Order: sequence, then structure tokens, then C-alpha cells
Amino acid sequence: MSIKKKIEKIEKNVTNNKLIFGLSGAFVAAALGLYLFSYFIVLTPKEREGLFNFGEVNHEKIEHPKKVKWSFDGMFGTFDKASAQRGYQVYKEVCSSCHSMNLVAFRNLQELGFTEPEVKVLASSSDYDFVNDDGDVESRPGLPSDHFKNPYPNKQAAAAANNGKAPPDLSLMAKARHDGPNYIYSILTGYTDAPAGFELSAGANYNPYFPGMQIAMAKPLSDAQVSYEDGTKPTVEQMSHDIVNFLQWTAEPEMEYRKRMGIKALAYLAFLTVFFYIAKVRIWSRVK
Ligand code: HEC
Repeated sequence: MSIKKKIEKIEKNVTNNKLIFGLSGAFVAAALGLYLFSYFIVLTPKEREGLFNFGEVNHEKIEHPKKVKWSFDGMFGTFDKASAQRGYQVYKEVCSSCHSMNLVAFRNLQELGFTEPEVKVLASSSDYDFVNDDGDVESRPGLPSDHFKNPYPNKQAAAAANNGKAPPDLSLMAKARHDGPNYIYSILTGYTDAPAGFELSAGANYNPYFPGMQIAMAKPLSDAQVSYEDGTKPTVEQMSHDIVNFLQWTAEPEMEYRKRMGIKALAYLAFLTVFFYIAKVRIWSRVK
């Protein structure tokens, strides 16, 4: 092939590529335009709100959860371990009389900064039943490998003791509800008197953040319910904040690792982008 022919071929390729790039650009722009048009012009604001709401459809007017700033929010979010430790204390002293946390073992608490001897002491404060060699049921003190003790033998017993509604397991609660941390915080701090004319069923408590606005759980926290060793003031807001930090950790203990990996992957991709861009410029610099 002569040089002239070769150059002609390259020029033809370049024109083809320009055409392909132009068409893809136009296609992407058209798709984006169509999307923005349908999203902002065709849909009403109410429909827009519903579009990405995959939670339970609830037609009653319940309050949106309060917006709280959490240390675990965002790409660089980390656990506030001091707060989560206090949250464990609130769970142990208040919530654990009704709510199980079946997925958490005492030894997991070491990840929150408790030492091994501390964990041993915490575990041994609950007694667990076991069947001995003679087939009799005996009880033994808890070990770090034991999971938190269930307050009720089964769900029926739990429901019978709580107005017919079993207290749900809290291990994954922060992930199991839409906007979980804010939702839990709002429920705990949101008890008020029922407005005039609101019909409260027997044994229920008014709470505008709970679906149905009446909840079988009586207000579990009041000021100074627990006493913190580190001198933090145990207001209802503070204890709610602490228990949410704890529940966020139990729901996703590997969160910090996941976020760190994400940042590393992004840094790596950014590096590769620059590297390949420079390589491309150098390689093609010979083609005039
Ligand atoms: C006296 C028993 C009792 C105590 C103590 C208690 N709860 Fe509850 N909790 C319940 C019951 C019963 C329900 C179910 C309410 C319903 O379905 O109406 C419930 C429901 C909840 C819910 C709502 C779950 C959902 O389905 O959306 C959360 C969150 C919760 N409790 C957190 C806590 C926390 C945190 C504590 C400790 C500070 C606590 N509870 C203490 C009995 C209790």
C-alpha cells in the first residue's frame, strides 16, 4: 500500500470515528433530555416523591423522621465508638428487657473498644440454660461467644407480655426501616400527647413518627434513666442518640471497612485515569 493510500485510509477512519462520537453524543443528550423532561415536566411533585420511595406505602399522614447529623453519614463516615458504648449501656439497662438482639454476640463488643476482660464480665451477667449429661436443664453464666440473651422464650410470649405486639429484634433495625437511624431517633424522642379527637386504642401510645401513629411500646426513655460513667448528661435526646449509634453499628459492623474500600477503589481508578490519559497522549503523539 502506498503512503498516500495509507493516509487516505487513516483520514477516512478519523471521519468515521467523528461520526460515531457525534451520534453517541447526540443519543446520550437526547436520553438525558427525555429523562429530565419526564422527571420535571411530566411528573407532579407528589409523583416525583413516590418514584424513588420503595418503602411500605402508607397513606396516613405520619411525620417524616427528624434530620439528625450522624458521625457515620457520608462517604467518610465512621462510628462514634464512645457514643455506641453508651448506647450499649442503654440497650442493656433499658431496651433489653423487651427487645432481643439475636445477631450480636458479646465478643463482638470488642470491636467497639471494650477489652476482653470487660466483655467476659458483661457476658457473665446473663445466665443461659443448657442440658447437662443427665438430660437435665441447668443454667450457666454467659460466655463471650454467647449471643445477647432473648428476654422472652418465644414470640408468642413476647406478644402476650406487650399488649399483643411482640417487640421486634433490634439487631438490624437501623437498616430494616427506611431512614432507620433518624426513624429510631424520632420514635424515641417523639412521644407526645395525642391531639384532641384522636382515638387511641387501649394500651397504645401516641407517637406521630410510627406508622398508624399509635405504638404498643410505652415511652421507654426519660431523663436520667441511666447514669453514664463518662459524665455525659443522660437526657432523652442524648440516650436516643447513643442507642442509634449502637444500633447502626450492630446493623452494619463492617461499614467502616466498606467505606474505606470504596475510597481506595476511587483513588485507584483516578490514578489509572491519569496514567492511561498520559499513556494515550504519548502513544498517539507520533501520529500527526
Ligand atoms: C416494655 C417493653 C419495651 C421496652 C423497654 C422497649 N421497647 Fe421498643 N418496642 C416494644 C414493643 C411492644 C414494640 C412494638 C410496637 C408496635 O408494634 O406497636 C416496640 C417497638 C420498637 C421500635 C419500632 C420498631 C418498628 O417496628 O418500626 C423501636 C425502634 C424500638 N421499639 C426501640 C426501642 C429501644 C431503642 C428501646 C430502649 C431504649 C426500647 N425499644 C425499649 C417494647 C419495648
